[in-house]
Amino acid sequence: MSGYYGECTDRPGGMDTGRTSGDCVEVRVTISGQSGVAEAVREAKRTAAKAGFGRSGKMRVATVVSELANNIRFYAGEGRIIIRTITGPSGEWIEIVAEDEGPGIEDVEKAMHDGFSMGGGLGVGLPAVKRMSDDFLIESTQGRGTRVTARIRA
Ligand SMILES: Nc1ncnc2c1ncn2[C@@H]1O[C@H](COP(=O)(O)OP(=O)(O)OP(=O)(O)O)[C@@H](O)[C@H]1O
Ligand SMILES: [Mg+2]
Repeated sequence: MSGYYGECTDRPGGMDTGRTSGDCVEVRVTISGQSGVAEAVREAKRTAAKAGFGRSGKMRVATVVSELANNIRFYAGEGRIIIRTITGPSGEWIEIVAEDEGPGIEDVEKAMHDGFSMGGGLGVGLPAVKRMSDDFLIESTQGRGTRVTARIRA
């Protein structure tokens, strides 16, 4: 089991969940080739269930993690998925961070359009992740890597 459980390693920013220290826990899963994708999806389902997400919420969290983990696997080879549960006055949130030090995305705006794929896929992964998220951020620098942050409310 390559997952690591513990207190959040950094503060989720940019969203007013009203979180205070101590109410954020996270699990980290290393993605390396094919290894880690299934584990990340398992952890996503487990975390969502624990946070009280219903059937469709659990499905969204698992699908987002699956899409982002597979993108790391196909386009970067290696990276990590961090799944955080944040408790705030507006309820439970799950924050998913997918980051890698791979080649980065040449044109992020294009990559966010349905049907754009550089890898022979359907090109629907990232747009679907955005639609399933209540809060979505993609940062990518060519030659440096990619980080996607998706937040989903219970
Ligand atoms: N982590 C990443 N590193 C580098 N490029 C990426 C990464 N994630 C996505 N991309 C680029 O963005 C494009 C769009 O990604 P998206 O997930 O939407 O579609 P896809 O992976 O090509 O197909 P699908 O997800 O539908 O199977 C990819 O084809 C790839 O060029
Ligand atoms: Mg994809």
